[in-house]
Amino acid sequence: SRLKLFYGAALVDEAKLENYEEVLSRVSGDLLIGASEGKDGYGWVDLPEKGHEQIIKVAEALKSFDSLIHIGIGGSALGNKMLFDCLTHPFYNELSREERKGPRFYLLDNSDPHLFLSVLDMVDLSRTGFIVVSKSGTTAETMANFLALWEKLKENKLPNLAQRIVVITDPNRGALRKFANEIGCLTLEVPQNVGGRFSVLSPVGLLSAAVQGVAIEELLHGAKDMKKKLFERNSIDNNPAWILAALSMEHCLAGRNMLVFMPYLSRMNSFTEWFAQLWAESLGKDGKGITPIRAIGAIDQHSQVQLYTSGPNDKLFLILTEEKSKRNVFFPEKLEEDSLNSLSYLLGKDMKSMLNCEAQGTLAALAKSGKPVAWMEMPNLDAYHLGGLIYFFEYLTAITGGLMKVNPFDQPGVEQGKVYTRALLGKEGAETEKKEAESYMRH
Ligand code: PA5
Repeated sequence: SRLKLFYGAALVDEAKLENYEEVLSRVSGDLLIGASEGKDGYGWVDLPEKGHEQIIKVAEALKSFDSLIHIGIGGSALGNKMLFDCLTHPFYNELSREERKGPRFYLLDNSDPHLFLSVLDMVDLSRTGFIVVSKSGTTAETMANFLALWEKLKENKLPNLAQRIVVITDPNRGALRKFANEIGCLTLEVPQNVGGRFSVLSPVGLLSAAVQGVAIEELLHGAKDMKKKLFERNSIDNNPAWILAALSMEHCLAGRNMLVFMPYLSRMNSFTEWFAQLWAESLGKDGKGITPIRAIGAIDQHSQVQLYTSGPNDKLFLILTEEKSKRNVFFPEKLEEDSLNSLSYLLGKDMKSMLNCEAQGTLAALAKSGKPVAWMEMPNLDAYHLGGLIYFFEYLTAITGGLMKVNPFDQPGVEQGKVYTRALLGKEGAETEKKEAESYMRH
C-alpha cells in the first residue's frame, strides 16, 4: 500500500486543511465503532478480515464451465466488471482455455434485450454457469435477466439446473433467497450490513473474480494493509485519504462540486465506473454532492482536457498513475529512417514512462490554467495494490460523507426509481406509486 499523494497543485491553503483534522478523526473513529456495533452500512469496514474459503470452494464448482454469466446491476455488477478489467487480460474471452484461468466471462447488468440475446449468441447454455446477485432480491433489471435466462434453461431441458446456478443474496429476505431454497442451488450471502456499492470485497465481487483465477486472498491482503494504515494515521499530514477528503470539501465549498478522476491506465476504465457509483450514490443527497466525472489518460487528453484547461474553473482533478507496469514496451535506441527524425524524443525510452510523462503534462497544463489538481501514484496494478486502492476509495467516500454531514450508506433516490419502475410495470399494491409516477409524465 505504498500509495503516494501529491497535492502541490491543488490550490488549497495547508492551514485550512488542518482545520479538518479534528472532525476527520471523529468521523474515521465512528466508522470503526459503527462496524463493531454491526450498524447498517458499516460492514464493509471489516470485509478484508472475513474468511474467503467458502468463496474459493464455490468458485471451484463454477470453473469447469466453458462460460460464466454474471447477472446483477449497480453494486452487484460494477465491482465484478472492475476486477475483471483490472486483473485479467484485456482480451480474456479470446484466449485459449489454458491461457485463461477460467470460463469465458459475460456480464448481464442492463435489462436490454439486445445485450441479453447477444450474450446468448456467444455461449452454449449447456456448458454455462450462472451467478445471480441481488442483495434485495427485488431489483427489476436483475430479476428480469434472471427470469428470462431461467426460462431459456428450462426450454432447453437441461439436466441438473440447480448445479448450474449460484445465488448471492440477503441471508433471509427476498425472492432470490426463496428461489434458492426451493431449487436447492449453491448460495453465498451478501452481509446484511454491507451496502451494494461497498460490497466488492464480499462474495458479491469476489466470486466471479475467483472463478477467473484472480488471487482474491491478495486483494483482501492489500485491503487489510490499507485499512490498518488509514485507521492508524491520525494526522492530515500523513493520511492521503484525509487530505483528499478535505480537498474535495474545500473545493466543493468554493463552488467546485465536480471531481474529475483520471487514471493513466486503460484497464482502469471500469474502476472509474465503479468509483463514480461509489462517490455519486454515497454523497449525492440532501441537496449536496460532488459529481464524479470519469476520464482516462492519455485518451481524454485528446478530448475532455480542452474543456478542463480552458473551460470554467468548477472542478477538482485527481490524476492517478502507476509507477511500474508488469508489461512494458521499449522504443529503439536509434533509427535508420531519416523520415522519422522528428520522433527522436522517444528513442531509448519506454511506453510506460511516456504515459506517465503525459500525466505530468496534463497536470502542468491544468495547473498553468489555474485549475486545482492532486496526483496519486500507486506502485503497480496487481491484486494486492488494487485491494488497497479499493479500500482507500471506500474509506475516502465514507469520511467525505462524514464531512458533508450526509449518510453515505443509504440511497433514497435510487430506491425511489426502483419503486416507480415496479409500479409502472403493474406490481400489485403499488397503484398509488404508479399514479404518482405517471403524473410526472404528462405530455
Ligand atoms: O449501492 C446500491 O445499493 C445499489 O447500487 C445496488 O447495488 C443496486 O441497486 C442493486 O441492488 P440489489 O443488489 O439489491 O439488486
